[in-house]
Amino acid sequence: MPKTVGILTGGGDCPGLNAVIRAVVRRAIPLGYDMIGILEGWRGALENNMERLNLDKVSGIIYRGGTILRTSRTNPLKRPNGLSIIKENLQINGIDFLVAIGGDDTQRVSDSLFQDGVPVVGVPKTIDNDLQGTDYCFGFDTAVSIATEAIDRLHSTAEAHNRVMVVEVMGRDTGWIAVASGMAGGADMILIPERPVDLHEVCRVLRKRHGRGKYFSIVVVAEGVKLPEAEKPADAGQPTDEFGHVRLGGVGDALAHEIEKRTGFETRVVTLGHVQRGGSPTAFDRILATRFGVAAMNLILEHNFGKMVALKGNEIVAIPLSEATKEPRRVTPELYDTAAVFFGSG
Ligand code: F6P
Repeated sequence: MPKTVGILTGGGDCPGLNAVIRAVVRRAIPLGYDMIGILEGWRGALENNMERLNLDKVSGIIYRGGTILRTSRTNPLKRPNGLSIIKENLQINGIDFLVAIGGDDTQRVSDSLFQDGVPVVGVPKTIDNDLQGTDYCFGFDTAVSIATEAIDRLHSTAEAHNRVMVVEVMGRDTGWIAVASGMAGGADMILIPERPVDLHEVCRVLRKRHGRGKYFSIVVVAEGVKLPEAEKPADAGQPTDEFGHVRLGGVGDALAHEIEKRTGFETRVVTLGHVQRGGSPTAFDRILATRFGVAAMNLILEHNFGKMVALKGNEIVAIPLSEATKEPRRVTPELYDTAAVFFGSG
């Protein structure tokens, strides 16, 4: 009997998911494995919504964004008997091994299934780039490229109108996208969740820059930043998902309001939102996703379960799922302090 590998994508989508799916399938099928795609993340595992994958189904998808398996933020740990239902559905479909592509929420479920006897391996995914144990998640490079291009474009319109332009980027708990795109785009100020925000200092830096004859500034802010001094919390009254995450978005508006009120500089805000997750992955992300996919299948061949593939330096390694799901990996002080050299100094 050929062995069967199930594969799913969970959590928010991310450019490069299709490249991972393609890599796992292209590695597995020539070795005699059958492949089953579990649709819409853990929802498909709970509701027995699956379909057979073959080489044709993964043809021509390496450059496509989104995920051919679709995804959801379904949390089986919140459902009565969620793990047992999943185990039963895996058995009904003859799935021997599972590849779960997702961020910390998805991998926490993978780890629980592994503890419960399911042979599972994880692949790290999040544009936020904040999973522990890996230097990079695929999707991050694409998000940074999109945000950098947006900042480049916003420069000319900001300059033409003598405006401060606040650019809100994704980053729930960490400011990786903000720091990387802000550095690449030459931002005058970058605000991230890892550093408390001092609005007085932000405005001082902007005034200093404008005082030297500059007519405009670019401020990049991660969506997860808290502004304790602002008039109204950005996420007040927003719904939460099944993993308990509040829907973010709005800190840019609050920040722009405060900057204009305190400095008198005309200020506009641009929230990049899901544009950062859409469209084709960069070459870097396609390559990383492909390496992760092949490495995940190699772990299955070695029967090395309960692990997540990860990038360390330029090597692909395997780390325990329990390590990957610890608290988010934060922006290093060295990186932020390097970015800060350019705040108001140009
Ligand atoms: O977790 C990745 C992420 O892109 C966060 O940066 C963002 O807060 C969240 O997903 C948005 O999720 P959704 O697609 O559910 O709105």
